[in-house]
Amino acid sequence: MNDKSHLSNSYKNILISEIENSKALKVGLIQLNRPDVLNALNIDLMKEVVEALETFDKDDETGCMVLTGNAKAFAAGADIKEMADATAVEMLLRDQFARWDKIRKIKKPIIAAVSGFALGGGCELAMTCDMIIAAEGAKFGQPEINLGVMPGAGGTQRLTKAIGKARAMEMILTGKMFTAKDMFIAGLITKVVDNDLYLDEAIELAKDIASKPTVAVQLAKEAVLKAFDTTIEAGLEFERKNFYLLFATEDKFEGMKAFVEKRKAEWKGR
Ligand code: CAA
Repeated sequence: MNDKSHLSNSYKNILISEIENSKALKVGLIQLNRPDVLNALNIDLMKEVVEALETFDKDDETGCMVLTGNAKAFAAGADIKEMADATAVEMLLRDQFARWDKIRKIKKPIIAAVSGFALGGGCELAMTCDMIIAAEGAKFGQPEINLGVMPGAGGTQRLTKAIGKARAMEMILTGKMFTAKDMFIAGLITKVVDNDLYLDEAIELAKDIASKPTVAVQLAKEAVLKAFDTTIEAGLEFERKNFYLLFATEDKFEGMKAFVEKRKAEWKGR
């Protein structure tokens, strides 16, 4: 599927672009674009993010996606103004965070390029991605407690699995902000880089991944994510099946033949 005509820049809350990658697959870039409110994640913005991710995911020419904000904010959370007057029943019927589950179904890797604030839903959105590259000045936090609520888009689960109970409790119960270095040490972040390099580094990483054999990348991502919601035994079985399944791809035969013949593999993406 190469038709991205509906990935138009008629989007109101995000900007999208495609980054060429010499001979390899492209990188799809999605930039949250509500700078006046520090990219607060309202319902319309999240609809657009999910649609853009799904479109890139189906596109044969795209190998990896990068999700970013701007220098001041990745995102300062769910849009508080949109929720301020809502009752429990309205929130339940709106079920706005259910849409976020669709991001879990994206097969291609997504890298969050974070600078500035990644708070509340912003931190949760970054954690929904597969890797986080952060500017050294980035600030991570789950400040919902200060609003009389708690994380509602995965924070209590993903943060705890990523950094452990002790530090997740501290973040969620105090609402304090933590530096990119703190979060790197805690294990949430892939790499911390200079403030002006966060997007370039994320794009370079995405290009590298986009140049790998597509099916192996997708099945490996799926297997790593499986570790979050299964037992070790079921996870190992799942991994093994995906491993064997890759022996059905042309790229497996090419990759191993190229190694034996001491040459660079030419991936077909199937
Ligand atoms: N929702 C709506 N608007 C927001 C927002 C949010 N989450 N975060 C910031 N904004 C708006 C501000 O209201 C302000 O708008 P106005 O100019 O119209 O007043 C604008 O963005 C700039 O913000 P500040 O003036 O506050 O900027 P600052 O630099 O002084 O402070 C900040 C930055 C510390 C991030 C502060 O904006 C802040 O605390 N934001 C809220 C963070 C938060 O509580 N996030 C959790 C939201 S709930 C959630 O995410 C639930 C969930 O689990 C999904």
